Amino acid sequence: MDNNLVNKIKEFASQNYDEVLAIRRHLHQNPELSFQEFNTSKYIQDVLTKLEIEFETGFVKTGIVALIKGKNPESKVIALRADMDALPILEENNISYKSQNNGVMHACGHDVHSASLLGVASILNKLKSEFEGTIKFIFQPGEEKLPGGASLMIKEGVLENPSPRTILGQHVFPDLPLGKVGFRPGMYMASTDELYLTVKGKGGHAALPHKCVDTVLIACEIISSLQQIVSRHAKPDVPSVLSFGKINSTGGATNIIPDEVKIEGTFRTMNEEWREKAHKKMVKIAEGIAESMGGKCEFEVRKGYPFLKNDEKVTQIAQEAAIAYLGKENVIDLDLRMTAEDFSYYTQSIPGCFYRLGTGESTGLHTSTFNVDEKSLEIGMGMMSWLALNLLDKQ
Ligand code: NI
Repeated sequence: MDNNLVNKIKEFASQNYDEVLAIRRHLHQNPELSFQEFNTSKYIQDVLTKLEIEFETGFVKTGIVALIKGKNPESKVIALRADMDALPILEENNISYKSQNNGVMHACGHDVHSASLLGVASILNKLKSEFEGTIKFIFQPGEEKLPGGASLMIKEGVLENPSPRTILGQHVFPDLPLGKVGFRPGMYMASTDELYLTVKGKGGHAALPHKCVDTVLIACEIISSLQQIVSRHAKPDVPSVLSFGKINSTGGATNIIPDEVKIEGTFRTMNEEWREKAHKKMVKIAEGIAESMGGKCEFEVRKGYPFLKNDEKVTQIAQEAAIAYLGKENVIDLDLRMTAEDFSYYTQSIPGCFYRLGTGESTGLHTSTFNVDEKSLEIGMGMMSWLALNLLDKQ
């Protein structure tokens, strides 16, 4: 592609910076929880109206879809996505634009994603005569909460009329310094499922265990046996994690065996077929152990997001474009991550690429002191604009 275009985009991104910075700070100051992004949505709609960009609202209540049509708009369509929701965290940053919504915070950078995407819309709107096809902008609610805004927007037809061939999403990353971005073709993030087990037995005096069915011992056996899912059954090339973070009994004490023990955990992996199989195996193992020890185990698997796979070809196009934009030394290969992201629903439907934007050193995502180096907004909007044009051009 024309190298002049890179420079033009960089110039537009630099011109847009102050405005996009103000947008980011407004969103940061006014965070809203998943599926309640009413003011956020209204604010984004106002910005789009000011930019004279056509859009549709009402997807999952707060979702917005905007379209920018270049030359020959029917010829090809791609989509760009940003999420809009915040987290139930009390912000502890000492900043002028600190959250005004007590106990709610943009601690996962979705304010940066939405502000950047508005910056991209502004840039590509100015470049309409320079590209062929249509770019669909998706402002999505509820990334942080099951069943995930992505799955609901897809059900409501966000990937139709017009249907994008591919989709891009970016996410802030405090592990990467400002100025760098990261990509990973193929499997990148895990599916996530919540596990809820209730072990039932017969409580009683702990000194008389022969008169009880010991729920604590059953729970221990179940927890250690379930690890064979990872160590014995998972194939070596399919990353899998099983962790239990909570175990509670109702009514137990040093000298009392409780009637019931509850266990909670998470199962994460990167293969949908194995995921289904593992669920069945885990239930069978837990029920079998409980039964063999005279008790019962009720096992609920609450399914979360699927695993996220970046399309090889789309990722290659994006990565090469990023190198042209930022230089080879600033484009790094990402490691696998066992965290989850509902962007995976899009990539289960169409080829896509979810990449990371370096936002400089900070405490981790989902912490009360998370923040970004705001200069990342300029790179975020400029680079995504450039990636979008390359994707339209090269596929
Ligand atoms: Ni996030």
